[in-house]
Amino acid sequence: MKFFIDTADLDEIKELADTGLLDGVTTNPSLIAKSGGNILDVIAGICEIVSGPVSAEITATEVDMMLEEAEILGSIASNVTIKVPLTVNGLKTCKLLREQNKMVNVTLCFSASQALLAAKAGATYISPFVGRIDDVGGNGMDLIDEIVGIYSQYPGIKTEVLVASVRHPLHVIEAAKIGADVVTLPPSVLRQLFSHPLTDKGLTAFLDDWRKTGQSIIEQSKTRA
Ligand code: E4P
Repeated sequence: MKFFIDTADLDEIKELADTGLLDGVTTNPSLIAKSGGNILDVIAGICEIVSGPVSAEITATEVDMMLEEAEILGSIASNVTIKVPLTVNGLKTCKLLREQNKMVNVTLCFSASQALLAAKAGATYISPFVGRIDDVGGNGMDLIDEIVGIYSQYPGIKTEVLVASVRHPLHVIEAAKIGADVVTLPPSVLRQLFSHPLTDKGLTAFLDDWRKTGQSIIEQSKTRA
């Protein structure tokens, strides 16, 4: 499963990209607004840090303007993925961009029928928002299960299921069990994935015992050479 990070904060992206575990980045207009930066600069900055797909969302609602914005965002770097909303015009734009071989992430997906249409429009990624479904009393992971199941019936569908609006590590584990292709994580959730209190406790005990031996692996290797 691929791990994307869902933020437009360059410092966070730099820090987490250093782990070598990041496959891409997703942004949206709210995240760009939160970053306080200009969208073109922010996306260019992210693309300098990450070589994998970087989703940049268009904000126009009419096809001709959507295509114009897509052209501008796509010219920033070759790894920019154009993010379009799941509307009729969004899917028309998706189809046209895919004919030009541009990567497209169809966002704001809340139903299996929408996901089916996005696949038909040739989307590179479909982004169902699991957390927002949970927020209104639904079960976001049921939708992921449904979409992955439907897509797997049709080998011709190449659209990847990108689990979005992730709120906690359990979403990630459930997505992996279902076989989703990608998860996009807020930085805080990605950090949570690393930690376990027993890891910290165990490491402290190992290092305490090691210190008592007075040994050093590096020093020993020098005397042996
Ligand atoms: C995905 O691409 C979206 O940017 C994001 O996951 C939305 O998450 P939210 O529901 O936490 O805003």
